[in-house]
Amino acid sequence: MLTLTLHRPEALNALNTALLGELADILDQSAQDDRIAAVVITGSQRAFAAGADIKEMATLDAVGVLQDPRVGYWKRISQFPKPIIAAVNGFALGGGCELAMHADILIAGHQAQFGQPEINLGIIPGAGGTQRLLRAVGKSTAMQMVLTGEPISAQRAYEAGLISEITQAELTLERAQSIARTIARKAPLAVQQAKDVLLKALDMDLATGLQYERKAFTLLAATQDRNEGIQAFMEKRQPLYKGC
Ligand code: CAA
Repeated sequence: MLTLTLHRPEALNALNTALLGELADILDQSAQDDRIAAVVITGSQRAFAAGADIKEMATLDAVGVLQDPRVGYWKRISQFPKPIIAAVNGFALGGGCELAMHADILIAGHQAQFGQPEINLGIIPGAGGTQRLLRAVGKSTAMQMVLTGEPISAQRAYEAGLISEITQAELTLERAQSIARTIARKAPLAVQQAKDVLLKALDMDLATGLQYERKAFTLLAATQDRNEGIQAFMEKRQPLYKGC
């Protein structure tokens, strides 16, 4: 398990190009590292991340926005094949909310706030916020958040299905790491296939999704870990997975 802590306290962890690029690089390396089964991303108690760096954004004209390397960084983050767990406290706004939504499991402290305030700057979310938020919380809540720019509480985010658990603020990271450790004990190929198939469910019709699931299920039947999992069950012992 790897824990990544966003640390730009002077800007409430605003995601400037350097920070986002570093995040994409570390995730690329982690994808190749068999010792890392899952990644936890967190920030501080005050802010997970307060969005894209507005001061940096102010320097970009339309051509700069078109050629913005962050588009590629976001794509690489979205393609990370292993589970990402976001441990969110404080502000998760704009790009910060969008980063949290790149996670597969979101855990938040009870004072966390989730929002897409870009409308207050005369723009709209630009890192998947409109698409992922709508899929996570439904049309009405997503519209309200994006059109008013007003954030929602952790409680509201939980009720809407954006996050899966609320914790006391000081326990959020610990809880996220505990979930990551639980996942790390499972067969790595099954974990990655499960993530892939679940994410595809958001984009596919049911028949195609079921077919995709069946193919992944069949593929896993060819793994040693599947034999080990079943054998361990029969022998009433813990499985020893090898990732093959
Ligand atoms: N970019 C750059 N700097 C930021 C920042 C951001 N997104 N958010 C906060 N900061 C900086 C502030 O400028 C301030 O720095 P200085 O002390 O040097 O002035 C410092 O962090 C602390 O912030 P505040 O004094 O504003 O703290 P606060 O507690 O009064 O308010 C806040 C907190 C409500 C989060 C407020 O900072 C805020 O509204 N931030 C901007 C949130 C936002 O609009 N995010 C969306 C950005 S656009 C985007 O993300 C596009 C996209 O989809 C990719």
